[in-house]
Amino acid sequence: MVPTNVNEYLEFALEAAAEAATIIREGAQRPKRIEYKGDVDLVTETDRRSEAAIVRRIRKEFPDHAIVAEEGSGGAPIGAKFCWYIDPLDGTTNFAHGYPCFASSIALYEGGTPVVGVVVNPMLNETFSAVRGEGARLNGNPIQTSAVPKLGASLVATGFPTHMRHNSANMDFYWGFTLRSHGVRRDGSAALDLCTVACGRFEGFWEFGLNSWDTAAGSLIVSEAGGKVTALDGSEYRLGGPTILASNGLVHDEMRELSAEILQKVAARKDSEQVTH
Ligand code: IPD
Ligand code: CA
Ligand code: CA
Repeated sequence: MVPTNVNEYLEFALEAAAEAATIIREGAQRPKRIEYKGDVDLVTETDRRSEAAIVRRIRKEFPDHAIVAEEGSGGAPIGAKFCWYIDPLDGTTNFAHGYPCFASSIALYEGGTPVVGVVVNPMLNETFSAVRGEGARLNGNPIQTSAVPKLGASLVATGFPTHMRHNSANMDFYWGFTLRSHGVRRDGSAALDLCTVACGRFEGFWEFGLNSWDTAAGSLIVSEAGGKVTALDGSEYRLGGPTILASNGLVHDEMRELSAEILQKVAARKDSEQVTH
């Protein structure tokens, strides 16, 4: 198949995500065999089965496309113009514990520009999708970010990195944002957090240290739903960058300013700790 328009890539991604969702739903019914990639970085057989199914489809239909997939079965043919970013199971810790908040995330980029993004929540039967320039959808219906104009009236979300977690400033962020909003949620799936901003349930989301596969689809879905995605300091977000800030656009500046305030306090505290030790 050589797609003649971008909607054919969307159809392909929707079918691949639907197969991944079936694998995840089946895996959720069975006992989980958990392995550790880091001290709290988990992987299960279902992550691998989901990835294998998606990668198999891409290799068959688009053998000249590159694939970046979390569990390592990707690859990049020489001169590849298109790249697929796959998180076969985002929210593995939730999945391993039977907490029903996890997803599969698939995105296609052309030379660094997003083309299509799909995120499926298999337990709620929710499929978020976006095509660049054509808006975002939930189960086929157009979605928009929320119209809440102030951080003080917002529900926001974050997540915590599994690597270097002892050294993360995010506890300060969690506290700072809790005091300045309706609350901060920590749901454990960055792909779903982004989609939750896109459909207006959260006003904003930030996180440190996410990988390209976590955000490739969700960041396009937020932008296409009318939201804004940058790094925490307001600069352009790039996949795999150290921070991400996604919002309904209206509370973006407030979130960015509060982030800068919190970082200043963290730096001042570290300075004073160095002086006293
Ligand atoms: C994790 C989730 C979580 C985020 C972590 C990610 P995984 O992905 O997106 O919400 O806080 O940083 O690593 O490992 O479940 O695919
Ligand atoms: Ca992930
Ligand atoms: Ca994953």
